[in-house]
Amino acid sequence: MRFEIVTIFPGFFSSIFENGILRRALAEGLVEVAIHDLRAFTHDRHRTVDDRPFGGGEGMVLKPQPLAEALASLGIAPKSPSPPCQGTTGDRGTLQGRGAVPQMPQNEEGALQAAEKLVAEGGGGFNPRIKPTESTRALAPEERLPPISPEIPSFSAASLAPEGMHRQEPQPPQRARVILLSAQGRPFTQALARELAALDRVVLLCGRYEGVDERINQLYCDQELSIGDYVLSGGELAAAVVIDAAMRLIPGVLGNQASGEFESFGPPDAEISTDADGVPRSQHGSGGLLDYPHYTRPAEFAGLRAPEVLLNGDHLEIRRWRRQQQLRKTLLNRPDLLENAVLTTEDRKLLESIRQEIS
Ligand code: ADE
Repeated sequence: MRFEIVTIFPGFFSSIFENGILRRALAEGLVEVAIHDLRAFTHDRHRTVDDRPFGGGEGMVLKPQPLAEALASLGIAPKSPSPPCQGTTGDRGTLQGRGAVPQMPQNEEGALQAAEKLVAEGGGGFNPRIKPTESTRALAPEERLPPISPEIPSFSAASLAPEGMHRQEPQPPQRARVILLSAQGRPFTQALARELAALDRVVLLCGRYEGVDERINQLYCDQELSIGDYVLSGGELAAAVVIDAAMRLIPGVLGNQASGEFESFGPPDAEISTDADGVPRSQHGSGGLLDYPHYTRPAEFAGLRAPEVLLNGDHLEIRRWRRQQQLRKTLLNRPDLLENAVLTTEDRKLLESIRQEIS
């Protein structure tokens, strides 16, 4: 699984990838991250990435040309022109090439024309001959980060290999998605994190200033995502959130693979994975509810005792208590989640008694 981040603040991400689960996942090669400095795709002395909005108004808008060139350097061609994406659209499926991505002209009109030409010619796609530009830097060893491949992985090049060249074995198509991070996007959820974790490649465009020229969204993005109903100063934090949430759901990243299934917003009990003998790995699917509260030693802390039920080892009782706590927390903090939660008859009874208790 490879994440590509296009940003004007490449330095922003270093500490994020140096710690915790993400660091281990990178070191073990379960996840790759490459950061692409948008300014490297500018051609003026000031490395200008933004401009004033047409029609006037506050702030600056990220220009389309550097973004189009950054995406071309990743082998990403424009889709057929369609309305700007509002929420989920189909993934790109494959980034395999049907033709070479043209060199992007070094001015914005030219870049858009090239995009249009590519669409008219039937799409284009990933071109294994296009290497990351100098700015396309994987987090480097000298930055004391885990090793990350500096190369774009070689996707199927068979259809592109010139005659006489060694033809590579066909490889399975890449499942890829290009995402624009913006406050106007569809809310990012655990369900979306699960979707991303199943892909091979996710390209994240970090917006800045007032936003990104909408034609980039229209031409290249499969999805526009927001991490919450507030406005950040840019998409970098949002990209880090998306990577963190998706990466921990990639098989092998969490020590105990099951733990991703049993936390808040996890799948219902029926979808919880089982061991070879058919026994569920845990008795506690979240069914779209918030997680229950957790306690650890000491049993008594600051005059507060951990709930007796957790100390007595009766697993059925523990399970019932935890479910009740999940329902209670969800009712108190996120009642909206109850509408789509998978609830049993017993859950509904428990919910009713909690409602009476707190009213
Ligand atoms: N950029 C600015 N605000 C954002 C948000 N809430 N989510 C994603 N990207 C953003």
